[in-house]
Amino acid sequence: VNIPVQLGPRSYRIVVEVGALDRVGALLADLDVGRRAALISDPAVTRLYGERVLASLSGAGFSVTPVQVPEGEGAKTLAVAEASWDALLTAGLDRSSTVLALGGGAVGDVAGFVAATYMRGINFVQIPTTVLAQVDASIGGKTAIDHPKAKNVVGAFHQPRLVVSDPAIVRTLPDREFRSGLAEMVKHGVVLDASYFAELERDAPALCVRDLPALESAIAGSCRLKAGVVERDEREAELRAALNYGHTIGHALEAATSFGRWTHGEAVALGMTAEARLAGRLGVATNDTVSRQERLLIALGLPVRATTVNVEGVLQAMGHDKKARDGRVPFVLSPALGHFQIVRDVKQEDVRAVLETLVESGSHG
Ligand SMILES: NC(=O)c1ccc[n+]([C@@H]2O[C@H](COP(=O)([O-])OP(=O)(O)OC[C@H]3O[C@@H](n4cnc5c(N)ncnc54)[C@H](O)[C@@H]3O)[C@@H](O)[C@H]2O)c1
Ligand SMILES: [Zn+2]
Repeated sequence: VNIPVQLGPRSYRIVVEVGALDRVGALLADLDVGRRAALISDPAVTRLYGERVLASLSGAGFSVTPVQVPEGEGAKTLAVAEASWDALLTAGLDRSSTVLALGGGAVGDVAGFVAATYMRGINFVQIPTTVLAQVDASIGGKTAIDHPKAKNVVGAFHQPRLVVSDPAIVRTLPDREFRSGLAEMVKHGVVLDASYFAELERDAPALCVRDLPALESAIAGSCRLKAGVVERDEREAELRAALNYGHTIGHALEAATSFGRWTHGEAVALGMTAEARLAGRLGVATNDTVSRQERLLIALGLPVRATTVNVEGVLQAMGHDKKARDGRVPFVLSPALGHFQIVRDVKQEDVRAVLETLVESGSHG
């Protein structure tokens, strides 16, 4: 499947296909780029997929320098970016060269940042290897490293020239990592497309066992939805804000538990559960809209309960949200599947009430 992303002179395509990993070289050769490239990856992903990508690239005539970065969030530091710039210079990469990111969102973010800044920006190709990276992080051109005081605060917009997503790659992910990515798919369905949501409902059992046709279809569908948002709104504004669904409460849950208790996707699943209930409580959404979301999350093995969470701590974390004003944050709510609405005047007592339901529903099964 080929998904075009129309951004004028920065247009590119997302290729979603089982086996696409072996076509990276040929796909890159179709672009007008130089022969030198750097392949940025982490040790775990390199062990699993490094050789195949290198073989594909050298088979297509590219001379590739492998660059290793640490696994996970530890890759997103200035020191890692600096070591990568060093490696690019040593290998003689020039303005016509390409940086390829092979890994999850963390590798994609730091490699994208390196590509955005090296010689004021060179060609960048994403080969995302987690569900989250395939359906979310690799699309949209956001690149970043972390600051010791805050995540993602140093970065640049830099669109890739190409994204290659091979659904078979995500079959080697640990279970929690895999399911976490599915939460972002659910998010896309809830706020953007009711028929995509229904596809996820129908395919939930197949997705859980990582059936390839189901994965390919769900990943491609999600990429199409996110690409559509990015096309209409390349820099953050109202439409892109829709993609924050589940994240206002989700981020606060992560922050209140020092990012150690849930994966990002699990926190987003809880956030969507709470925000769906908030929409129900405020009379914005019907019970059916609320309960279908919970049922789908459960079917995908994602949490909808947060036993023993400190509700006041979560409310406090929400007050520190970048988008907060006078302690109130705007919420993205879904009045009906496939639709969203931004609600700015939600009372704290309503947020507290839905957070309490997340905890309560844990005490009786
Ligand atoms: N730029 C954006 O728009 C955007 C959007 C969302 C998230 N992000 C960023 O993405 C990051 C999270 O990304 P993530 O969830 O992909 O996690 P990750 O990049 O931290 O990777 C998680 C782990 O999975 C391993 N792994 C990756 N692919 C694998 C595979 N196919 N098989 C086995 N193991 C594999 C990695 O080695 C790593 O240890 C965060 O830093 C977040 O800020 C960026
Ligand atoms: Zn997210």
